[in-house]
Amino acid sequence: MSPLTDKPAVLVARRAPDAVLQRLQASFEVDYHDGELPLPPAELRARLHGKAGAYITGTERITAELLDACPALRVVCTMSVGYNHIDLAACTARGVLVTNTPDVLTESTADFGFALLMATARRMSEGERLLRDGGWKSWAWDFLAGSEVHGTTLGILGMGRIGQAIARRGHFGFGMPVIYHNRSRLPADTEAELGARYVSKETLLREADHLVLVLPYSAEAHHCIAAPELALMKPTATLVNVARGGIVDEDALALALRERRIAAAGLDVFEGEPRVNPALLTLPNVVLTPHIASATLPTRRAMAGLAADNLIAALTGGKPPTPLNPEVLSA
Ligand code: 8YV
Repeated sequence: MSPLTDKPAVLVARRAPDAVLQRLQASFEVDYHDGELPLPPAELRARLHGKAGAYITGTERITAELLDACPALRVVCTMSVGYNHIDLAACTARGVLVTNTPDVLTESTADFGFALLMATARRMSEGERLLRDGGWKSWAWDFLAGSEVHGTTLGILGMGRIGQAIARRGHFGFGMPVIYHNRSRLPADTEAELGARYVSKETLLREADHLVLVLPYSAEAHHCIAAPELALMKPTATLVNVARGGIVDEDALALALRERRIAAAGLDVFEGEPRVNPALLTLPNVVLTPHIASATLPTRRAMAGLAADNLIAALTGGKPPTPLNPEVLSA
Protein backbone atom coordinates (compact mmCIF):
# COMPACT_ATOMS: atom_id res chain seq x y z
CA MET A 1 0.00 0.00 0.00
CA SER A 2 1.35 3.41 -0.84
CA PRO A 3 1.35 5.58 2.31
CA LEU A 4 0.26 8.58 0.21
CA THR A 5 -2.64 7.19 -1.81
CA ASP A 6 -3.98 4.07 -0.06
CA LYS A 7 -3.60 2.24 -3.34
CA PRO A 8 -1.55 -0.97 -3.55
CA ALA A 9 1.90 -0.33 -5.03
CA VAL A 10 2.79 -2.36 -8.12
CA LEU A 11 5.67 -2.54 -10.56
CA VAL A 12 4.85 -2.61 -14.27
CA ALA A 13 8.15 -3.98 -15.46
CA ARG A 14 7.71 -3.59 -19.23
CA ARG A 15 5.88 -1.26 -21.59
CA ALA A 16 2.14 -1.84 -21.75
CA PRO A 17 -0.50 -0.42 -24.10
CA ASP A 18 -1.68 3.05 -22.94
CA ALA A 19 -5.24 1.92 -22.20
CA VAL A 20 -3.96 -0.91 -20.02
CA LEU A 21 -1.52 1.33 -18.19
CA GLN A 22 -4.33 3.80 -17.48
CA ARG A 23 -6.48 1.02 -16.00
CA LEU A 24 -3.59 -0.03 -13.79
CA GLN A 25 -2.91 3.54 -12.72
CA ALA A 26 -6.57 3.94 -11.72
CA SER A 27 -6.28 1.02 -9.30
CA PHE A 28 -2.65 1.16 -8.18
CA GLU A 29 0.31 3.30 -7.33
CA VAL A 30 2.29 2.30 -10.42
CA ASP A 31 6.07 2.25 -10.72
CA TYR A 32 6.40 2.06 -14.51
CA HIS A 33 9.50 0.91 -16.35
CA ASP A 34 8.98 2.17 -19.88
CA GLY A 35 12.47 1.48 -21.22
CA GLU A 36 13.19 -0.55 -24.35
CA LEU A 37 15.14 -3.20 -22.46
CA PRO A 38 14.23 -5.32 -19.45
CA LEU A 39 15.39 -4.12 -16.04
CA PRO A 40 18.69 -5.67 -14.99
CA PRO A 41 18.05 -8.21 -12.17
CA ALA A 42 19.42 -5.96 -9.39
CA GLU A 43 17.19 -3.07 -10.48
CA LEU A 44 14.20 -5.37 -10.84
CA ARG A 45 14.79 -6.50 -7.27
CA ALA A 46 15.20 -2.95 -5.95
CA ARG A 47 12.06 -1.67 -7.67
CA LEU A 48 9.99 -4.70 -6.71
CA HIS A 49 10.87 -4.27 -3.05
CA GLY A 50 7.79 -3.10 -1.12
CA LYS A 51 5.44 -3.73 -4.05
CA ALA A 52 2.32 -5.88 -3.67
CA GLY A 53 2.12 -6.76 -7.33
CA ALA A 54 4.35 -7.36 -10.34
CA TYR A 55 3.18 -6.97 -13.93
CA ILE A 56 5.85 -8.71 -15.98
CA THR A 57 6.54 -10.42 -19.29
CA GLY A 58 8.66 -13.38 -20.32
CA THR A 59 11.84 -11.36 -19.91
CA GLU A 60 11.69 -10.91 -16.11
CA ARG A 61 12.87 -13.86 -14.03
CA ILE A 62 11.08 -14.41 -10.73
CA THR A 63 13.30 -16.57 -8.54
CA ALA A 64 13.06 -17.76 -4.93
CA GLU A 65 15.87 -15.36 -4.07
CA LEU A 66 13.97 -12.43 -5.56
CA LEU A 67 10.81 -13.43 -3.69
CA ASP A 68 12.76 -13.54 -0.41
CA ALA A 69 14.07 -10.03 -1.08
CA CYS A 70 10.52 -8.78 -1.79
CA PRO A 71 8.35 -10.10 1.06
CA ALA A 72 5.51 -7.63 0.40
CA LEU A 73 4.86 -9.25 -3.00
CA ARG A 74 1.45 -10.96 -3.21
CA VAL A 75 0.89 -11.46 -6.92
CA VAL A 76 2.93 -11.87 -10.10
CA CYS A 77 1.04 -11.42 -13.38
CA THR A 78 2.92 -12.34 -16.52
CA MET A 79 1.81 -11.20 -19.95
CA SER A 80 2.66 -14.57 -21.49
CA VAL A 81 1.23 -18.04 -21.58
CA GLY A 82 4.64 -19.60 -20.83
CA TYR A 83 5.84 -19.26 -17.26
CA ASN A 84 9.20 -20.99 -17.21
CA HIS A 85 10.73 -17.64 -16.16
CA ILE A 86 8.85 -17.87 -12.86
CA ASP A 87 9.66 -20.28 -10.04
CA LEU A 88 6.05 -21.30 -9.54
CA ALA A 89 6.75 -23.67 -6.63
CA ALA A 90 8.66 -20.94 -4.79
CA CYS A 91 5.76 -18.52 -5.35
CA THR A 92 3.22 -21.03 -4.09
CA ALA A 93 5.33 -21.85 -1.04
CA ARG A 94 5.36 -18.14 -0.14
CA GLY A 95 1.66 -17.61 -0.85
CA VAL A 96 2.37 -15.48 -3.95
CA LEU A 97 -0.31 -15.84 -6.62
CA VAL A 98 0.91 -16.26 -10.21
CA THR A 99 -1.23 -15.66 -13.30
CA ASN A 100 -0.52 -16.02 -17.03
CA THR A 101 -2.38 -15.23 -20.27
CA PRO A 102 -3.60 -18.44 -21.91
CA ASP A 103 -6.18 -18.73 -24.73
CA VAL A 104 -6.03 -15.13 -26.01
CA LEU A 105 -2.86 -15.87 -28.02
CA THR A 106 -3.69 -19.39 -29.21
CA GLU A 107 -4.92 -18.63 -32.72
CA SER A 108 -2.35 -15.92 -33.56
CA THR A 109 0.48 -18.10 -32.35
CA ALA A 110 -0.85 -21.03 -34.38
CA ASP A 111 -1.11 -18.78 -37.47
CA PHE A 112 2.52 -17.85 -37.02
CA GLY A 113 3.61 -21.43 -36.36
CA PHE A 114 2.00 -22.50 -39.61
CA ALA A 115 3.44 -19.51 -41.47
CA LEU A 116 6.90 -20.43 -40.19
CA LEU A 117 6.38 -24.02 -41.31
CA MET A 118 5.46 -22.82 -44.79
CA ALA A 119 8.27 -20.26 -45.01
CA THR A 120 10.71 -22.97 -43.96
CA ALA A 121 9.44 -25.70 -46.26
CA ARG A 122 9.11 -23.34 -49.25
CA ARG A 123 12.44 -21.57 -48.65
CA MET A 124 10.91 -18.09 -48.55
CA SER A 125 13.65 -16.34 -46.56
CA GLU A 126 16.34 -17.93 -48.68
CA GLY A 127 14.55 -16.76 -51.84
CA GLU A 128 14.14 -13.21 -50.55
CA ARG A 129 17.77 -13.00 -49.48
CA LEU A 130 18.87 -14.23 -52.91
CA LEU A 131 16.61 -11.72 -54.68
CA ARG A 132 17.75 -8.75 -52.56
CA ASP A 133 21.37 -9.77 -53.07
CA GLY A 134 20.91 -9.68 -56.87
CA GLY A 135 21.24 -13.45 -57.22
CA TRP A 136 18.03 -13.98 -59.26
CA LYS A 137 19.35 -14.51 -62.80
CA SER A 138 16.98 -16.92 -64.45
CA TRP A 139 14.48 -19.74 -64.09
CA ALA A 140 15.46 -23.38 -63.60
CA TRP A 141 13.25 -26.39 -62.96
CA ASP A 142 14.71 -26.86 -59.48
CA PHE A 143 15.35 -23.20 -58.64
CA LEU A 144 14.72 -22.82 -54.88
CA ALA A 145 12.57 -25.96 -54.96
CA GLY A 146 11.42 -26.79 -51.46
CA SER A 147 9.38 -29.44 -49.68
CA GLU A 148 5.69 -30.08 -50.22
CA VAL A 149 3.32 -28.95 -47.48
CA HIS A 150 -0.21 -30.00 -48.49
CA GLY A 151 -0.90 -33.69 -47.99
CA THR A 152 2.34 -34.34 -46.12
CA THR A 153 2.50 -35.58 -42.53
CA LEU A 154 2.33 -32.91 -39.86
CA GLY A 155 3.96 -33.91 -36.58
CA ILE A 156 3.27 -32.01 -33.37
CA LEU A 157 5.22 -32.38 -30.15
CA GLY A 158 3.13 -30.91 -27.33
CA MET A 159 -0.58 -31.08 -28.13
CA GLY A 160 -1.95 -28.32 -25.89
CA ARG A 161 -4.14 -25.46 -27.06
CA ILE A 162 -1.62 -24.07 -29.58
CA GLY A 163 -0.63 -27.53 -30.83
CA GLN A 164 -4.28 -28.35 -31.48
CA ALA A 165 -4.81 -25.04 -33.29
CA ILE A 166 -1.84 -25.82 -35.57
CA ALA A 167 -3.17 -29.35 -36.13
CA ARG A 168 -6.53 -27.88 -37.16
CA ARG A 169 -4.82 -25.67 -39.74
CA GLY A 170 -2.90 -28.62 -41.18
CA HIS A 171 -5.87 -30.98 -41.20
CA PHE A 172 -8.58 -28.69 -42.55
CA GLY A 173 -6.49 -26.26 -44.59
CA PHE A 174 -3.83 -28.48 -46.11
CA GLY A 175 -5.21 -32.02 -45.98
CA MET A 176 -2.34 -33.16 -43.78
CA PRO A 177 -2.46 -36.35 -41.75
CA VAL A 178 -1.56 -35.26 -38.20
CA ILE A 179 0.50 -37.29 -35.76
CA TYR A 180 1.35 -36.07 -32.27
CA HIS A 181 3.08 -36.91 -29.05
CA ASN A 182 2.16 -35.40 -25.72
CA ARG A 183 2.43 -36.22 -22.02
CA SER A 184 -1.23 -37.20 -22.08
CA ARG A 185 -3.32 -38.44 -24.94
CA LEU A 186 -6.25 -36.33 -26.17
CA PRO A 187 -9.83 -37.60 -25.82
CA ALA A 188 -10.89 -39.75 -28.79
CA ASP A 189 -13.41 -37.19 -30.04
CA THR A 190 -10.76 -34.43 -30.10
CA GLU A 191 -8.39 -36.72 -32.00
CA ALA A 192 -11.16 -37.48 -34.49
CA GLU A 193 -11.99 -33.78 -34.94
CA LEU A 194 -8.34 -32.93 -35.63
CA GLY A 195 -7.67 -36.04 -37.69
CA ALA A 196 -4.78 -36.63 -35.27
CA ARG A 197 -3.11 -39.90 -34.35
CA TYR A 198 -1.25 -40.36 -31.06
CA VAL A 199 2.21 -41.91 -31.55
CA SER A 200 5.39 -42.46 -29.55
CA LYS A 201 8.01 -39.72 -29.66
CA GLU A 202 10.20 -42.01 -31.77
CA THR A 203 7.46 -42.61 -34.34
CA LEU A 204 6.74 -38.89 -34.41
CA LEU A 205 10.36 -38.14 -35.21
CA ARG A 206 10.58 -40.88 -37.83
CA GLU A 207 7.31 -40.17 -39.66
CA ALA A 208 6.79 -36.40 -39.59
CA ASP A 209 7.48 -34.46 -42.77
CA HIS A 210 7.12 -31.24 -40.77
CA LEU A 211 7.64 -31.38 -37.02
CA VAL A 212 6.36 -28.48 -34.94
CA LEU A 213 7.48 -28.05 -31.32
CA VAL A 214 4.80 -26.51 -29.12
CA LEU A 215 5.50 -28.08 -25.73
CA PRO A 216 6.03 -26.01 -22.58
CA TYR A 217 9.60 -25.68 -21.40
CA SER A 218 10.50 -27.66 -18.28
CA ALA A 219 13.61 -29.38 -16.93
CA GLU A 220 12.59 -32.61 -18.66
CA ALA A 221 11.95 -30.80 -21.97
CA HIS A 222 15.45 -29.27 -21.93
CA HIS A 223 17.25 -30.31 -25.15
CA CYS A 224 14.66 -33.00 -25.77
CA ILE A 225 15.44 -32.44 -29.45
CA ALA A 226 19.18 -33.12 -29.69
CA ALA A 227 21.48 -35.20 -31.92
CA PRO A 228 19.80 -38.60 -31.29
CA GLU A 229 16.33 -37.20 -32.01
CA LEU A 230 17.47 -35.30 -35.11
CA ALA A 231 19.09 -38.50 -36.38
CA LEU A 232 15.69 -40.20 -36.41
CA MET A 233 14.09 -37.53 -38.60
CA LYS A 234 13.74 -37.84 -42.37
CA PRO A 235 16.48 -36.08 -44.36
CA THR A 236 13.65 -34.23 -46.15
CA ALA A 237 11.95 -33.14 -42.90
CA THR A 238 11.62 -29.64 -41.50
CA LEU A 239 11.62 -28.67 -37.82
CA VAL A 240 9.74 -25.66 -36.46
CA ASN A 241 10.07 -24.32 -32.91
CA VAL A 242 7.57 -21.80 -31.54
CA ALA A 243 7.83 -23.02 -27.94
CA ARG A 244 11.06 -22.22 -26.08
CA GLY A 245 14.63 -22.23 -27.32
CA GLY A 246 15.94 -24.52 -24.59
CA ILE A 247 13.92 -27.42 -25.96
CA VAL A 248 16.36 -27.78 -28.88
CA ASP A 249 20.10 -28.39 -28.67
CA GLU A 250 21.03 -25.63 -31.11
CA ASP A 251 24.58 -26.86 -31.76
CA ALA A 252 23.24 -30.28 -32.73
CA LEU A 253 20.56 -28.67 -34.89
CA ALA A 254 23.07 -26.43 -36.67
CA LEU A 255 25.21 -29.47 -37.45
CA ALA A 256 22.23 -31.47 -38.73
CA LEU A 257 21.22 -28.54 -40.95
CA ARG A 258 24.74 -28.02 -42.24
CA GLU A 259 25.12 -31.71 -43.10
CA ARG A 260 21.58 -31.77 -44.56
CA ARG A 261 20.57 -34.55 -42.23
CA ILE A 262 17.29 -32.65 -42.03
CA ALA A 263 16.19 -30.27 -44.79
CA ALA A 264 15.44 -27.07 -42.92
CA ALA A 265 14.34 -25.45 -39.68
CA GLY A 266 12.20 -22.48 -38.68
CA LEU A 267 12.97 -21.01 -35.28
CA ASP A 268 11.11 -18.25 -33.45
CA VAL A 269 12.74 -18.94 -30.07
CA PHE A 270 16.35 -19.36 -28.97
CA GLU A 271 18.08 -20.69 -25.92
CA GLY A 272 19.95 -17.49 -25.04
CA GLU A 273 17.61 -15.01 -26.73
CA PRO A 274 17.94 -12.30 -27.81
CA ARG A 275 21.38 -13.75 -28.55
CA VAL A 276 21.24 -16.22 -31.44
CA ASN A 277 23.68 -19.13 -31.68
CA PRO A 278 26.19 -17.93 -34.34
CA ALA A 279 26.25 -21.41 -35.88
CA LEU A 280 22.65 -20.86 -36.99
CA LEU A 281 23.16 -17.40 -38.43
CA THR A 282 25.29 -18.49 -41.37
CA LEU A 283 23.09 -21.37 -42.53
CA PRO A 284 20.86 -20.87 -45.59
CA ASN A 285 18.30 -23.52 -44.61
CA VAL A 286 16.98 -21.97 -41.44
CA VAL A 287 14.34 -19.27 -41.07
CA LEU A 288 14.99 -17.15 -37.98
CA THR A 289 12.43 -14.82 -36.38
CA PRO A 290 12.76 -12.83 -33.12
CA HIS A 291 10.14 -14.48 -30.84
CA ILE A 292 7.13 -12.87 -32.48
CA ALA A 293 4.65 -15.75 -32.76
CA SER A 294 2.04 -13.94 -30.65
CA ALA A 295 2.85 -10.52 -32.07
CA THR A 296 -0.31 -9.10 -33.59
CA LEU A 297 -1.63 -5.89 -32.07
CA PRO A 298 -5.06 -7.34 -31.16
CA THR A 299 -3.46 -10.36 -29.51
CA ARG A 300 -0.82 -8.37 -27.64
CA ARG A 301 -3.55 -5.97 -26.43
CA ALA A 302 -5.62 -8.93 -25.28
CA MET A 303 -2.63 -10.43 -23.44
CA ALA A 304 -1.83 -7.10 -21.77
CA GLY A 305 -5.48 -6.63 -20.82
CA LEU A 306 -5.79 -10.11 -19.35
CA ALA A 307 -2.62 -9.63 -17.28
CA ALA A 308 -4.12 -6.38 -15.97
CA ASP A 309 -7.48 -8.06 -15.21
CA ASN A 310 -5.56 -10.60 -13.15
CA LEU A 311 -3.57 -7.99 -11.25
CA ILE A 312 -6.60 -5.81 -10.51
CA ALA A 313 -8.72 -8.76 -9.36
CA ALA A 314 -5.94 -10.22 -7.23
CA LEU A 315 -5.29 -6.99 -5.33
CA THR A 316 -8.84 -5.66 -5.06
CA GLY A 317 -10.60 -8.73 -3.69
CA GLY A 318 -11.86 -10.08 -7.02
CA LYS A 319 -11.40 -13.45 -8.73
CA PRO A 320 -8.35 -13.47 -11.04
CA PRO A 321 -9.44 -15.04 -14.36
CA THR A 322 -6.37 -17.14 -15.11
CA PRO A 323 -4.43 -18.16 -11.98
CA LEU A 324 -1.62 -20.73 -12.25
CA ASN A 325 -1.59 -21.60 -8.55
CA PRO A 326 -5.21 -21.08 -7.46
CA GLU A 327 -4.46 -23.02 -4.27
CA VAL A 328 -2.87 -19.80 -3.00
CA LEU A 329 -6.28 -18.10 -3.20
CA SER A 330 -8.01 -20.66 -1.00
CA ALA A 331 -5.17 -20.89 1.53
C1 8YV B 1 5.46 -13.56 -25.54
C2 8YV B 1 5.39 -16.11 -25.31
O1 8YV B 1 5.74 -12.75 -26.62
O2 8YV B 1 3.29 -16.05 -24.26
C3 8YV B 1 4.40 -16.58 -24.32
O3 8YV B 1 4.72 -17.52 -23.57
O4 8YV B 1 6.38 -16.71 -25.49
C4 8YV B 1 5.14 -14.89 -26.13
O5 8YV B 1 3.79 -14.82 -26.50
C5 8YV B 1 6.55 -13.38 -24.56
O6 8YV B 1 6.72 -14.36 -23.63
C6 8YV B 1 6.36 -12.02 -23.87
O7 8YV B 1 5.86 -12.11 -22.62
